[in-house]
Amino acid sequence: MGSSPTTRISGVRPYGEDPTDLHVRDGVLVEAVDDPDETVDAGGLIALPGLVDLHTHLREPGGEEAETVETGSAAAALGGYTAVFAMPNTDPVADSPVVVEHVWRRGREVGLVDVYPVGAVTVGLEGARLAEMGMMAASPARVRMFSDDGRCVNDPLVMRRALEYARALDAVVAQHAEDHRLTVGAQAHDGPVAARLGLAGWDPTAEESIVARDVMLAATTGARLHVCHLSTARSAEILRWARETHDGVRVSAEVTPHHLLLTDTAAEDYDPVHKVNPPLRPSADTAALRRALADGTVDCVATDHAPHAVEDKDCEWSAARPGMLGLQTALPVVVTTMVATGLLDWRGVARVCSEAPARIAGLADQGRPLAAGEPANLVLVDPDAAWTVRGAALASRADNTPYEGMEMPVSVVHTMLRGRWTVRDGKVQGDD
Ligand code: DOR
Ligand code: ZN
Repeated sequence: MGSSPTTRISGVRPYGEDPTDLHVRDGVLVEAVDDPDETVDAGGLIALPGLVDLHTHLREPGGEEAETVETGSAAAALGGYTAVFAMPNTDPVADSPVVVEHVWRRGREVGLVDVYPVGAVTVGLEGARLAEMGMMAASPARVRMFSDDGRCVNDPLVMRRALEYARALDAVVAQHAEDHRLTVGAQAHDGPVAARLGLAGWDPTAEESIVARDVMLAATTGARLHVCHLSTARSAEILRWARETHDGVRVSAEVTPHHLLLTDTAAEDYDPVHKVNPPLRPSADTAALRRALADGTVDCVATDHAPHAVEDKDCEWSAARPGMLGLQTALPVVVTTMVATGLLDWRGVARVCSEAPARIAGLADQGRPLAAGEPANLVLVDPDAAWTVRGAALASRADNTPYEGMEMPVSVVHTMLRGRWTVRDGKVQGDD
């Protein structure tokens, strides 16, 4: 056998279009291979470029009881991802070259998905002093995305300085938009549901006011701003306004699968599995977010995969940590909310789950077309294979999925990273 196996993927439907064969040699898609080492019958399966997640909590270092780079990478590969961005709210915080390099190296060792550490904007996520952004950018991890996610860079002067540094580094600042002074004690979206349940209301203005401020700072500085987990109709309106009135403003935004599907009424069972930051919103917001994703106002889907240990979720609502698993359910939830509703076709799914996030993060080898000469990063999806979510059966250490018992309409069957299968027939592949 040659040094690198050649593969023919036969009868597959790229972007859900007409069946064809894809060929892989040396980690790259090629026109054809003679006498391939392996042929995979992919009749009926849809091929997309490998998915890219700009917002994953892998919890390493320090939160290994909830997730590790290894278990999170497995969940990502099983979800069809070939690249994930690991948020820095770890313990210690990823605010230095040492920590980002550790996460990056662990990702390479595990090898199931490209793991890109996100660097903290401020030291310890405390919002006061800028972290060593330049040092993290210069480290082997080559950090190009910075965020204090979990916390907002609330101070406008700190945010402006962060944007100025990011511009100099050709990096992007991903903002968790939440004016903390408006959310002290807040537990659930401020509306009739929270009032009925006796949960302290979470004013959506906390998000919208920061989005408005930050798009203006982006325009002023010329830097790149990415808005994390956009969750209200008005936040989407602000993005539209920013682009219409400020030619060339460099802003992008993501929406999570749970903010596309679930609404604030989910809290009615008082089950903290539905507690998340930002909180689940009313159906008028989910509908507006779906439209905003379809028309490009919101650029992409990001999971905000947030595993939590049992003791952080199996408690009363107000004591529970916010966050939910997302990596293995993201694609099916996007299909449910965007494809089954006619808002996006499979090309659109490739755009919002792979191409746009890769572009925002500046990845040259992800989110590429399924064409000869391009890196063989792909996911093959069975559009007819429904499955039922069981938290205990997911690859994550934690099991805090909000979709327990729910039927998902499509399954990830195979995932390939640079010509190597990371998932075959729904199973993670070990080293070969
Ligand atoms: O729900 C959330 N969980 N939102 C965040 O911003 C942080 C995340 C976490 O780290 O658990
Ligand atoms: Zn966040």
